[in-house]
Amino acid sequence: MDVMEAIHQRTSIRGFKNDPVPQAMIREILETAVRAPSALNSQPWEFVVITGAVLEQIRQANVAQLNAGAPSSADHITGEWPKDSIYRKRQVTLGKSLFQLIGIAREDQEKRKAWQERGFRFFDAPVAIIVMTDTVLPESGPLLDIGMVVQNICLASVAKGLGTCIEDQGIFYPDVVRELAGIGKDKRLIIGIALGYPDWDFPANQLKTERASADEVTKWIGF
Ligand SMILES: Cc1cc2nc3c(=O)[nH]c(=O)nc-3n(C[C@H](O)[C@H](O)[C@H](O)COP(=O)(O)O)c2cc1C
Repeated sequence: MDVMEAIHQRTSIRGFKNDPVPQAMIREILETAVRAPSALNSQPWEFVVITGAVLEQIRQANVAQLNAGAPSSADHITGEWPKDSIYRKRQVTLGKSLFQLIGIAREDQEKRKAWQERGFRFFDAPVAIIVMTDTVLPESGPLLDIGMVVQNICLASVAKGLGTCIEDQGIFYPDVVRELAGIGKDKRLIIGIALGYPDWDFPANQLKTERASADEVTKWIGF
């Protein structure tokens, strides 16, 4: 698959088939993804790939924390946008689009909550990838490098017919993941990725989010 095609095809997948993903395929995806560039070739990424019983335990424990009203204790700041900013507006647009597709009315608190729980359950994907970095590194230092490897994972997954959703929700309670997946305090959890075969009948998977055009965010000089 052409890289341009893969970039255009990739969308966040929030509904998956139950079919297991072969370990060899995930390994190939990760082997490809780690060709990502990084500052001074530091390669500041590590992965824990989870399926089966442990993933089920993480789903349950995440949802239990959420329902207990536990505040997020994420290892790094996630999603904080000034109230009246364009960034916040885009977030609201995303929420509205998703709710419209899955048929959740604004005032339907029960369905909204059920939807939120799905995120904390890694959208019931058969596989979750936890992307981590070493705490000896500065907090924001490796984030750019990790973004690159994460996008590579998503694109390589598309090439294999798989779908992904990059998600903060899965690692909002990092100590839950740490304990159940046996991850030490010396690792900072940066992001989760839900991975599996897309269920194309799941309405939220139809979402094609909008973008400001390149020209809106680009200043051209000397052309
Ligand atoms: C750093 C990061 C964190 C994200 N966290 C979540 C999340 O917690 N839950 C979720 O449903 N989607 C999450 N997403 C997916 C975004 O909502 C999605 O990428 C964005 O709306 C653009 O849509 P697209 O991926 O379909 O192109 C996250 C994406 C990124 C890059």
